[in-house]
Amino acid sequence: MSPALADYIAECHSQSDDRLLAELREETAGLGGVSTMQISPEQGTFLSLLVAALGVKAPIEIGTFTGYSALCMARALSGGGKLLCLDVSREWTAIARRYWERAGVAERIELRLGDGAETLAAIPEAPHYDFAFTDADKTGYDRYYELLLPRLRPGSVLVFDNMLWRGRIVEETIDDPDGRAIDTLNRKLASDPRVESVLLPVADGLHVCRKL
Ligand SMILES: C[S@@+](CC[C@H](N)C(=O)[O-])C[C@H]1O[C@@H](n2cnc3c(N)ncnc32)[C@H](O)[C@@H]1O
Repeated sequence: MSPALADYIAECHSQSDDRLLAELREETAGLGGVSTMQISPEQGTFLSLLVAALGVKAPIEIGTFTGYSALCMARALSGGGKLLCLDVSREWTAIARRYWERAGVAERIELRLGDGAETLAAIPEAPHYDFAFTDADKTGYDRYYELLLPRLRPGSVLVFDNMLWRGRIVEETIDDPDGRAIDTLNRKLASDPRVESVLLPVADGLHVCRKL
């Protein structure tokens, strides 16, 4: 995609004038290079749209960082809904908590600190959740997927971020563990009879699946 086309797409979505989201982006940018981990604004809008359109009540997120994606999802939750967020970083999620408070959605979010796979594995295998957004360590994605599936209701949507690996996913040789993990999971999801899936070129690529 050309930079001009990417800029055009980035301009044409709702919430682009949201002050609180913009402030969160500014504060996160102040953290330096790690700020590139934050999802793009149009991905945030896409998550809000999905959560609202599907009437999601019990979403789960793996990889919260400074809380942008969680804020977008929490605002869109159906009445009485609650989002469970998993992350290892106390420092980054402290920023998240401040913005959730300011947005008035702190009561709708539970944050559990610790390794995402360990936290998930400790949750009994029952269909507690109805939406999952995965945006943590890439080599852990397949494990997260396998842990999430039995904990999601049939019909739930799963979204995985960074699935185009900044365009490098089509390189002839992928000699990086993150790239290999993403490529393997993209191909697995596409042929996995437990889900239907589509890989969308939204920002760094969202693989969207529905549990059958
Ligand atoms: C790409 S960022 C998430 C960005 C976030 N979704 C947003 O909208 O800003 C990845 C996050 O995954 C977290 N993380 C890395 N390894 C993890 C693990 N093993 N378990 C849980 N979280 C992990 C990091 O602390 C980091 O905050």
